[in-house]
Amino acid sequence: MSHTIIQQLAETYAYLHHHGFTEARTGIVLGTGLGDFVQKMEVRVAIPYHDIPHFPVSTVEFHKGQLLLGTIGKQVVMAMQGRFHYYEGYSMAEITFPIRLMKMLGVERLLLSNAAGGMNPDFKKGDLVILSDHIHMQTENPLRGMNDPQFGPRFPDMSCPYDEALSQSIHAAGAAHGVVFKTGVYVSVNGPSLETRAEYRHLRAAGADMVGMSTVPEVIVANQVGLPCAAVSVITDECDPDHLQPVDISDIIAVAGMADKKLSTVLAAMVSGFA
Ligand code: HPA
Repeated sequence: MSHTIIQQLAETYAYLHHHGFTEARTGIVLGTGLGDFVQKMEVRVAIPYHDIPHFPVSTVEFHKGQLLLGTIGKQVVMAMQGRFHYYEGYSMAEITFPIRLMKMLGVERLLLSNAAGGMNPDFKKGDLVILSDHIHMQTENPLRGMNDPQFGPRFPDMSCPYDEALSQSIHAAGAAHGVVFKTGVYVSVNGPSLETRAEYRHLRAAGADMVGMSTVPEVIVANQVGLPCAAVSVITDECDPDHLQPVDISDIIAVAGMADKKLSTVLAAMVSGFA
């Protein structure tokens, strides 16, 4: 962690503090499956990423990138509408910059969602799967480089990267809304090309239930800074190497849209119940 980043974080903190973001206690990365979540929020402040000092500049892929501050019930929430992916060309430091900020601003818990390919044969398109653990297979670790002790340990413990109480709360809120959550191990890959049949076999043999191109860098940094987190994958395609179908992007989007209502409803209900 270079001194430049520390200085940048301090400047961005000051800007967001000025806009009220120090009130947020729950942080959310609105990935696939949480598009509707914004409708559940009473949004107070919405700032496009390009207006926030030192925030990574968005690629054309998501012009919607903005940071939201709002409430759900009495809970003050800070939400990232649009995340940064490694395959877009961002550095790991850029991808995880907002997570460090959340911690500095006083956020106490982090929720994330993503789209993933299901390799576990029990997983079907549209399933919602809580991450029990992960395998980081991207090229780079976000903590590589100089570490300033004020952010946390040089060698963070990763024996329990996903907070069990938070994950349990998702299960419970799901049960209250008739939504079943499965549980699985997520492996992160660089992308953006999807996997070959041989790669799906390899990743499955490595112990993963689903594969995607995000989330793990953010979770590694959340663990370093001591921010409890939980994450949910929306299974958008079934990756059985012996019956692999070419991926149809419009199909993936349709599947994600169907899961969105369920996941947004459940997580909003859960967040509104936080003390
Ligand atoms: N592989 C990697 N990332 C993905 C997939 C996949 O099959 N589906 C959705 N995101």
